[in-house]
Amino acid sequence: MKLLEVNDLKTYFKTSKGYVRAVDGVTFSLDHGECLGLVGESGCGKTTTALSITRLLPKGGEVKGGQIFLEGVDYATLTDKEIEDHRWEDVSIIFQGAMNAFNPVKKVGWQIAEACIRHKGMTKDEAWKRAGELFELVGIPAERVTQYPHEFSGGMKQRAMIAMALACDPKLIIGDEPTTALDVMIQAQILELLEDLRKKLNMGMILITHDLSILGETCDKIAVMYAGRIAEMGTVDDIFNHPAHPYTKALLACFPNIYSNERTVPEGIPGIPPDLIDPPEGCRFCPRCKCAFEACSKETPEFKEISEGHFVSCHLMGKEENHG
Ligand SMILES: Nc1ncnc2c1ncn2[C@@H]1O[C@H](COP(=O)(O)OP(=O)(O)OP(=O)(O)O)[C@@H](O)[C@H]1O
Ligand SMILES: [Mg+2]
Repeated sequence: MKLLEVNDLKTYFKTSKGYVRAVDGVTFSLDHGECLGLVGESGCGKTTTALSITRLLPKGGEVKGGQIFLEGVDYATLTDKEIEDHRWEDVSIIFQGAMNAFNPVKKVGWQIAEACIRHKGMTKDEAWKRAGELFELVGIPAERVTQYPHEFSGGMKQRAMIAMALACDPKLIIGDEPTTALDVMIQAQILELLEDLRKKLNMGMILITHDLSILGETCDKIAVMYAGRIAEMGTVDDIFNHPAHPYTKALLACFPNIYSNERTVPEGIPGIPPDLIDPPEGCRFCPRCKCAFEACSKETPEFKEISEGHFVSCHLMGKEENHG
């Protein structure tokens, strides 16, 4: 059985102007121990996808359709009370700048121990011991469990946050821009730590970022989101070396190629993403797409598997086949 299966997920926010269709038909799956990178421009629905899976949507946000199976249990249909039993133990999430979420007047180790007591029913002694073990696991000396947040650097706090997320041995861990607030060297260390832990603990992982360049070394597969939908999904090799969707190609062109001898200036993508209250008909990238033709503004392209595990939602796919 797959660890996670998300089928045609639709999550909307109710606002005074109408429904914001933040996630509008997203489908992907993840095996145990596998890492999926979720990438796309600001506002494309990455965080909303993560919050739908963990059922931590803010007020006004609601899963309107689809299924979210975590080891066969449909999270989309669990009650708020039922989800409490699964969060932390099956799935946990690390946010951008999460390190600032520690309570400044409580010892860091105690905040982790409390989670173990609450969710694992440990005694106080067991929970302190577990906090020390988790510290060691994320590369912090166990004796630092009695220190306060202000005694930790940003990178150390983020490590401690990861320790907290691991407290109940989740099967799936979601990192929503987990390194964005950190400097580049620390970023690399934290990503390496997550990668090590994932392999050691055989956890599934979803890594959310705007920065396509960090995904190559960390992920098995990548989903490129645009305006609430997945434009393209495939292995790292598919996405980096055989991108098929014009949006993926444009996104790749936004990053300088450090391995190339050619001195090319990265291009931006002209235009802005659509308003998700009233998105365009057909392909949502159509108004910005250099390759768009008639069908693109009329029909939603299907999410088509063009080679094993490589999915593309673009009318060009059928067209190229037909015209050679
Ligand atoms: N609480 C909310 N109420 C109304 N609309 C919201 C709310 N939260 C998010 N949205 C809208 O949902 C869409 C998706 O937002 P989301 O935060 O999921 O994007 P994102 O891909 O995580 O962006 P970023 O890269 O900036 O973090 C956006 O159009 C956003 O404005
Ligand atoms: Mg986000």
